[in-house]
Amino acid sequence: MLARPWPCSTRYSVRRIADYLGYECSGTDGIRLYATTKLGTPVDLIQAMHTTFACREFLDRDVDDATVYRLLDAARFAPSGGNRQGWRVVVARDSALRSRFAALARPIMQRYVAETLAGEAPYNSILPSKVDEDSVARTPIPDAVVASITTAPVLLMIGVDLRVVTSFDRDLDRVGVVSGASIYPFAWNVLLAARNEGLAGVLTTFLAPSEPEVQQLLGWPESIAVAAAIPIGHPMKQLTRLKRNPVEDFARIGRWDGPPLVG
Ligand SMILES: Cc1cc2nc3c(=O)[nH]c(=O)nc-3n(C[C@H](O)[C@H](O)[C@H](O)COP(=O)(O)O)c2cc1C
Repeated sequence: MLARPWPCSTRYSVRRIADYLGYECSGTDGIRLYATTKLGTPVDLIQAMHTTFACREFLDRDVDDATVYRLLDAARFAPSGGNRQGWRVVVARDSALRSRFAALARPIMQRYVAETLAGEAPYNSILPSKVDEDSVARTPIPDAVVASITTAPVLLMIGVDLRVVTSFDRDLDRVGVVSGASIYPFAWNVLLAARNEGLAGVLTTFLAPSEPEVQQLLGWPESIAVAAAIPIGHPMKQLTRLKRNPVEDFARIGRWDGPPLVG
């Protein structure tokens, strides 16, 4: 059965129909209430790929360890270079610890927002930022930007053991890309598995600049890179239309300046 939102003009009737059919009511966008798949009901793969969005707002409902285990048990089938499976996960629930993470993320996101507002691609490795330190310091950031770290029922800290990662691009004169391919398929699988259960989350990387502090807070050795922090919970709402560019915009036939691949 597909996970399909049911827009309806009256929340009450949707909730009753959803209850009757055994659906989960995952939230409301202010006008409409969304009913997503029953917990544990498989979601069609393509539908899941189309609708696994970045969820930063959660209902006040717990996600227990047994559920987290199921997500990780599905995610572990992700590929990794040489099948060396360097992922390491800490299931973080402690609110004091998570507040420390949020405090670390805040100045990082301040710079991100300041550079974005200046029309730049923030934290870019090729084009240096023209935004000065004063402007960064003066940039206000909404709480919502880092709030999911503390407000989700559970936070998954995803690390990767660089001692087992093959980085074929390590000697190129550019930022490393290949190493991430041994961890982000796993991280994405966590979110797809969450989608399958009517849960949601967001892959965040904003703690990476504070890696030494995060390692210390988690007791991680230096070889464990901080790849992602993923808050997981019951979504306040389930998006069904994600903004993505069409294939014609990014795929060319034969070479860079070839004709676009059309469907
Ligand atoms: C590599 C990567 C890093 C990301 N880092 C962050 C982050 O640090 N903080 C955050 O709120 N979202 C982060 N995101 C989520 C993106 O903002 C999100 O996937 C994108 O805006 C699309 O959102 P949508 O699926 O809801 O359309 C990250 C996503 C990816 C894939």
